[in-house]
Amino acid sequence: MENQKTNLQGKVAFITGANRAIGLETARGLAKLGATVIIGARDTEKGEAAAESLRVEGLAAEFLLNDLKRPEDDQTAYDYIANRHGKLDILVNNAGIMVEAPSASDIGENETSKLPMEQLRETFDINFFAQVRLTQALLPLIHKSASGRIVNLSSVLGSLTLHANPASPIYSLKAFAYNATKTALNAFTVHLAHELRDTTIKVNSAHPGWVQSELGGKLAPLGIEDGSLTSILLATLPDDGPTGGFFHMGEALPW
Ligand SMILES: NC(=O)c1ccc[n+]([C@@H]2O[C@H](COP(=O)([O-])OP(=O)(O)OC[C@H]3O[C@@H](n4cnc5c(N)ncnc54)[C@H](OP(=O)(O)O)[C@@H]3O)[C@@H](O)[C@H]2O)c1
Repeated sequence: MENQKTNLQGKVAFITGANRAIGLETARGLAKLGATVIIGARDTEKGEAAAESLRVEGLAAEFLLNDLKRPEDDQTAYDYIANRHGKLDILVNNAGIMVEAPSASDIGENETSKLPMEQLRETFDINFFAQVRLTQALLPLIHKSASGRIVNLSSVLGSLTLHANPASPIYSLKAFAYNATKTALNAFTVHLAHELRDTTIKVNSAHPGWVQSELGGKLAPLGIEDGSLTSILLATLPDDGPTGGFFHMGEALPW
């Protein structure tokens, strides 16, 4: 996978959950390559502050209020991007939650049999249903791009192959709600990529690595900048790049 000299001048990217952590750093990285980035955030003050932090660096950044809990925000996003830009080149479905542990560092015993249904539903609502819904809503604008790219922020914790292997480093990390949503998101990647296989749009799942953020926790080995690299790589794939895959730093992961 090569994208070292990518020039994103004229390209428009929308990144959800981009007010902080991996999302903000992904936006910064894409803007540094020349893209106009739209910072999706559910809080106006935080989102505006994040966009302004990029603008003071001389980057092209806009803020768009987008709460994945609010289906009506999908149409608002469509209208905003359609009216202002007329197309969408890159969609990074970055926002995500883990409700069963304060952070990935805190995943404890396997409590699948006791997981409250509300936690399972809440996690699926944000990490899966909202991602599918928003992508469906914005797809007509992505079709208007010459080379649309959709990046779904999954996790290695969504890999059933690794979960089934006692020798895998993630074998004991059985946060059922979070993990299952990422497995489902991977299914969305595969199915949407197949539907779009004869178009110029590429759809891939990203595992950013175990990254120091609120979600990753303090024990994570990767910093935020490294954590944004996989998303940036997949958002800037060349036309002969892969689609329907699951990657970390350019390496394919098992489903
Ligand atoms: N960090 C890791 O080690 C790791 C590993 C594998 C995969 N991932 C995935 O990478 C993505 C980014 O993770 P991160 O570590 O940067 O997480 P984070 O620090 O917890 O940030 C999550 C982002 O999602 C936003 N968000 C949460 N609920 C939302 C909603 N209802 N509507 C819109 N935005 C919402 C948050 O906004 P607020 O600031 O308003 O809360 C925040 O901007 C996630 O999908 C995560 O699952 C992370």
